[in-house]
Amino acid sequence: MAEQKKQEIYNICVVGAGHVGLVAAACFAELGNKVVCVDNDKKRIEALRKLKMPFYEPKMEPLVAKNYNRKTLQFSSSLKDSIKKAEVIFLAVGTPPLEDGSADLTAIETVARTVAENLNSYKLIVEKSTVPVQTGKKVKETIYRYKKTDVPFDVASNPEFLREGKAVYDFFYPDRVVIGTESKRAEEILKSIYAPLKAPIVVTNINTAELIKHASNSFLATKISFINAVSRVCDLAGADIEKVALAMGLDKRIGSDFLQAGIGYGGFCFPKDLEAFIYISKRLGYDFDLLKAVKDINDNQQKNYVEKIKEHLWILKKKKIAILGLSFKPDTDDMRFAPSTAIVNAFLSEGSQISVYDPKAMPEAREMFKGKKIQFCSNLYAAVKGADCLCLVTEWDGFKKMDLKKIKKIMNYPLIADGRNMFDKDKVTGLGFEYLGVGK
Ligand code: UDX
Repeated sequence: MAEQKKQEIYNICVVGAGHVGLVAAACFAELGNKVVCVDNDKKRIEALRKLKMPFYEPKMEPLVAKNYNRKTLQFSSSLKDSIKKAEVIFLAVGTPPLEDGSADLTAIETVARTVAENLNSYKLIVEKSTVPVQTGKKVKETIYRYKKTDVPFDVASNPEFLREGKAVYDFFYPDRVVIGTESKRAEEILKSIYAPLKAPIVVTNINTAELIKHASNSFLATKISFINAVSRVCDLAGADIEKVALAMGLDKRIGSDFLQAGIGYGGFCFPKDLEAFIYISKRLGYDFDLLKAVKDINDNQQKNYVEKIKEHLWILKKKKIAILGLSFKPDTDDMRFAPSTAIVNAFLSEGSQISVYDPKAMPEAREMFKGKKIQFCSNLYAAVKGADCLCLVTEWDGFKKMDLKKIKKIMNYPLIADGRNMFDKDKVTGLGFEYLGVGK
């Protein structure tokens, strides 16, 4: 483990005002650095200057406002100017998935080229977006190819492990900071930037740092698929997955995190990062069959969930299905790769009537399901009124407090399909509901 370094103040440019970029920019500014967050989406930058956040993330808005007002954080749509003024440039641009599972690295290449063309003083270019292993090498080659001066530069990888919904907390209290670089100067700068966090720092080469990110996300997804596969056996054997997970998790070698069985993982990280890791491993010459199984198990969780409800209700056509929770997990409005979409689409293809409610993701849901016959409701009770099945899809805290007696009265048929094992089975069956959990 590397030793801590004294903090200095840096001129930082964060390229990309998405989840990773905006949170990192605000947090670097909070640590006292002078930060400019750049995005080529002018509307987003204009809105940020009016302190309008592009997405919901707890604790982010006050941090952005505080640092924008005290001028440690600025927003710009001019990449060139921002690069010229910065010493450290964090790349937090999108790396969306392509058809074949590989990551589209066009935005990374564009920024690398722009850095090369505007290399007016020493710059450290740091990859923060999740990128395939060996991208750092390509970034370096690109800058060498297009630079017009002999001004020195370094490239480093500093993968981001923050979770949506807990991003600000994760930034300030990381389990570890990974610094991948072959340059002592770059290592010292990054150690100094992260010094106030007092987190363990792992220093390694760029390829290893990139691989740490692939391996960490894939391992977490594997843990979820493992417990979901066990939940299927629990269903068949009449065992209780929650007790299985509890007892497994007490073994310190296993740990209790990420053993929550449900309808599978979603979001913009796990599904896309898994695909990208499978793809890059194959390209390098290794067939990562384990990860293919992880992905299949995840897809099947959603299919199995709908299948279970179908078995129970027999015919789904014209039945009213209330979907509670649409975001891929609580405390975010993000619906990218959310399990709810596969579930809603499966019910739609069965001819069911769908009503939906989510505390934060309704605008995203309207956009995503545009043109589909769905009733968008303003609260959970409106969604479950007259329903034949209440599908609990995202375990929002507010849902835990729902008035089940009232729900029982207003539903057409009292069936709860608890996709996140949020309810106490004995309690809800005691109130007269029929209950379908995951592996219990
Ligand atoms: C994840 C990683 O945790 C983070 O380190 C990385 O930087 C980005 O990807 P995030 O996508 O925000 O973060 O969500 P996370 O909290 O990890 O949950 C991912 C998905 O797994 C969610 O859909 C969640 O519902 C599901 N999940 C999580 C389970 O189904 N069971 C669990 O036990 C844990």
